Amino acid sequence: MACGIYGVKHTKLIDLPKISDPRGNLTFVESEQQVPFSIQRVYYLYDVPGGSERGGHAHKDLHQLIVAMSGSFDIILSDPEYTEKVHLSRSYNGLYIPPMVWREINNFSSGSVCMVIASNRYSEKDYYRDYSLFKRDYLELSKGS
Ligand code: TYD
Repeated sequence: MACGIYGVKHTKLIDLPKISDPRGNLTFVESEQQVPFSIQRVYYLYDVPGGSERGGHAHKDLHQLIVAMSGSFDIILSDPEYTEKVHLSRSYNGLYIPPMVWREINNFSSGSVCMVIASNRYSEKDYYRDYSLFKRDYLELSKGS
């Protein structure tokens, strides 16, 4: 576990490069350049029915960058100390989420696409799906840092 860099206070909005062009804009993300981690996986949420909620978990070691590729949605970030709501609606803004942050994603606009760039391959072992277990380990880690 990467102590000292986890939790809501270490999330941040990242302005990604935007190459403006009358033919259409272009944005790029390179491993360990625009994101503070090595990129191992990309996945995306799409065809999200109105009123759906995604997320509802935290990760032990995974770093992620979330981008609204189309449309918009809200991300509610929390840990035992802080809660914050971030609205994403621009393809050139990314929300960096370090390990040990509980997230819920909701308020998806129709046709929205949520892209997630991640520092590791999928592993169910990396998830906290029970808030009380997440809280217990977060508080334990906080004592040590
Ligand atoms: P989950 O991460 O819980 O989705 P969300 O946070 O968007 O609500 O994943 C949903 C399901 O998809 C779960 O059964 C695991 C599977 N999954 C993969 O197989 N690979 C992946 O890269 C991801 C993100 C999920």
